[in-house]
Amino acid sequence: MDITLQKAGTLLGNRLVSPAPVQRKHAKLARTVCMAKTKETTEVNFVPFQEVKPQLATVSKTDAPTESFARCNYEVSCEHAMNEQINIEYNISYIYHSLYAFFDRDNIGLPGLAEYFRNSSAEEREHAEKLMAQQNRRGGRVKLLSILLPETEFNHKDKGDALYAMELALSLEKLNFIKLRELHKVACDAEDAQLADFIESEFLQEQAQAIKIVSEYVSQLRRVGKGLGVFEFDRYLSGATPAGAAGGMGAAGLPAAGAVA
Ligand SMILES: [Fe+2]
Ligand SMILES: [Fe+2]
Repeated sequence: MDITLQKAGTLLGNRLVSPAPVQRKHAKLARTVCMAKTKETTEVNFVPFQEVKPQLATVSKTDAPTESFARCNYEVSCEHAMNEQINIEYNISYIYHSLYAFFDRDNIGLPGLAEYFRNSSAEEREHAEKLMAQQNRRGGRVKLLSILLPETEFNHKDKGDALYAMELALSLEKLNFIKLRELHKVACDAEDAQLADFIESEFLQEQAQAIKIVSEYVSQLRRVGKGLGVFEFDRYLSGATPAGAAGGMGAAGLPAAGAVA
């Protein structure tokens, strides 16, 4: 009888008795675990100085500053898709900037909408910079692509300028959501968990929320019609009306198309 069984027996009334079947089973299990632990500690699963050799050779050959030291399991497909998304964010930023300039004109005179689109433009550029930081973090190369000339006139014969601009913004935000999901798919296809997580945590939720907010603005502008309704909506955006003040959404605090808390 081994020591474990003796101990088990001692615990049963302070005298040496034969342990119950359940206790014998536990003692056997303890011996098995003990043997497994001994096996684990004697086996070598990871040989760092051997396994690191390919990486070390890559780093040694890296010709700084033209090549990245940090790059590790970063597919070219992901690098290209990231540069395309940076370009999309810049294009949308440029269009929003054009909308800002339009609503800021003296013969348009809608400062709330002008400020809204100015904030939205800055927000999209921040998104581009966030993507740039991620590209550099992974050792990719940021490549800025051409930006198309945006429209400069936003008067629509039937809808007027404000509703047309907000419907345009909604379309752009929805298109951006589609593009972000395409980027996410490229990351998943490359089995790049870090990139997929970055897109999910930093962009997708915020983009979905942005679409909801702009959709509500479109609904409100459809209700108020053109003329005085747009004037009141603009005052609401700028925080000049009680509704805007109650919501805590003045021009400074207004959620931009790409900005969500
Ligand atoms: Fe964006
Ligand atoms: Fe946006």
